[in-house]
Amino acid sequence: MKIVHKIEEVRSAVSEAGGEGKLVGFVPTMGFLHKGHISLVEISRESTGYQVMSIFVNRLQFNDPGDFKNYPKSIEKDIEMAKAAGVDLLFIPDDTEMYSNNLTHVNVDLLTLNLCGAHRPGHFEGVFTVVSKLFNIIQPHAAVFGQKDIQQAVSIEKMVSDLNFPVKIIIAPIVREEDGLAMSSRNKHLSEEQRVSALSIYRSLKRGESAITDGERDVERIISLMIDVIKTGNPDSIDYVTAVNYDDLSIAEKITGRTVIAVAAFWGTTRLIDNMIIEPHGDGFKCIY
Ligand code: PAJ
Repeated sequence: MKIVHKIEEVRSAVSEAGGEGKLVGFVPTMGFLHKGHISLVEISRESTGYQVMSIFVNRLQFNDPGDFKNYPKSIEKDIEMAKAAGVDLLFIPDDTEMYSNNLTHVNVDLLTLNLCGAHRPGHFEGVFTVVSKLFNIIQPHAAVFGQKDIQQAVSIEKMVSDLNFPVKIIIAPIVREEDGLAMSSRNKHLSEEQRVSALSIYRSLKRGESAITDGERDVERIISLMIDVIKTGNPDSIDYVTAVNYDDLSIAEKITGRTVIAVAAFWGTTRLIDNMIIEPHGDGFKCIY
């Protein structure tokens, strides 16, 4: 595995791989890698022959400076994990390599109105700006994003289509701990007690899922059932418990087609998010991830 820090080095390594006729797959991350990140590399490998991963804690997407400062880091371990996962090129730029007097920002309208977009001002603009830069630096054929951050993934699909980036976006399922908690770099900040309580996120999604598969179509009632369950874990606050239509992430009132049920809540200062995708199946609905 080659490790590079400069944009020029990325370009020459990627063009060498291209010269050998390899398709380039890309997995952007902010490091503190876990099995969820690694699963994205595995999915990328199914359709491409040269794997690029980036590790960059992108300050532009942190609406909370404390969250940026405390973002967990483990670069040595990350390097080992990336190597073991078969990453060919690991790009670890520093802040000045990525941003020197950056005056250009990228936004996606409408899709960022609800869910996290409503609670983290500026966050998505920071994400789309860095992802656009990374796409232009690496010029991958395909890039893999996790369903864990469903609003990010769906909005990036739209950005790529609107701005004609020649990259295929692949959305990968959520990797969970054995007990159901979605893997996240932020889980590290949870105390043992909070870690157990935070499972109520997963239980509330399962409650939403079972209500829908049992025939409930009224979103207000579904959400109220989900809130009851999430509250059993005593979160310090709940940002949202909501259902949105998959295609445009607009708020759903009735369950009619492919729908995302999603939750964001705090335990202490740690904000956790999770979601499930439910879609029509025969006469009813089923959870696809
Ligand atoms: P980060 O939070 O490091 O996540 C990197 C990628 O891993 C994202 O696509 C995310 O959805 C995916 N991921 C995280 N947890 C996962 C899990 N449990 N299962 C499957 N995939 C998971 O998302 C970002 O970084 C940044 O916003 C980034 C896209 C790198 C731009 O800065």
